[in-house]
Amino acid sequence: MDFDIITIFPEFFNGPLSHGMVFQAQKRGLIDIRIHDLRDFTTDRHKTVDDRPFGGGAGMVLKPEPLFRAIRKIRAQKTLLPTKVILLTPQGKRFEQRQASQFSSLHQAILICGRYEGVDERVSECLVDEELSIGDYVLSGGELAACVFVDAVTRLLPGVLNNSSSAVNESFAAVEDSVIPTNSSILDYPHYTRPEDFEGQRVPDVLLSGDHKRVECWRRKKALEKTLKNRPDLLQYAALSEEDKQLLG
Ligand code: 6GU
Repeated sequence: MDFDIITIFPEFFNGPLSHGMVFQAQKRGLIDIRIHDLRDFTTDRHKTVDDRPFGGGAGMVLKPEPLFRAIRKIRAQKTLLPTKVILLTPQGKRFEQRQASQFSSLHQAILICGRYEGVDERVSECLVDEELSIGDYVLSGGELAACVFVDAVTRLLPGVLNNSSSAVNESFAAVEDSVIPTNSSILDYPHYTRPEDFEGQRVPDVLLSGDHKRVECWRRKKALEKTLKNRPDLLQYAALSEEDKQLLG
């Protein structure tokens, strides 16, 4: 999959995309990330990318011409494969696991990093397929959101994670081969590794028991408890079994 990122801060991406899974996926040729400096698509001497808003108000707005030029050039390179142009903006639809999964079937995602003040609306109207936000808070720009998008989508691509089950058996994803009927929308259960005793804090005995059925039941209970504590909103969508309701008490 190809990610084309259009930004006024190209250096921003040097760090975040050069580590771990995203870096490995690039090295292995599973993804290609190209950073495009919006200023390269300006035509004036000052490389102007933004201007004051019509109608007045604070802040600057990204001008349409450089973005149109950038998208037209990037699109021209790949016309027939499924491509989407995505604007990262706090005014977008909330980016959730469901969308990450849908976008992972694209061949190309063209990501426009908005600035919080705004992007000329004609860009959204004519060029953009989806406006996405990563959550209900305001960031100064879409760059962090673009990194979030690349990470969340890349880890779902075939061959990226060596352990094929680890992307499935986690929060916000369906657990398929579970003994206990489960669903897509509760948080993950707590994890422990060695040592068994860390400064007097012991790993729960059940995890050392080797009894897979009991482990599974304990994990489900803990996952439900964690969800009730941290994200009670998720429980209203969760299809809880009678057993789950008993576990929750
Ligand atoms: Cl995509 N952009 C900005 N500027 N702020 C955000 C966001 C995006 N998502 C949440 N806050």
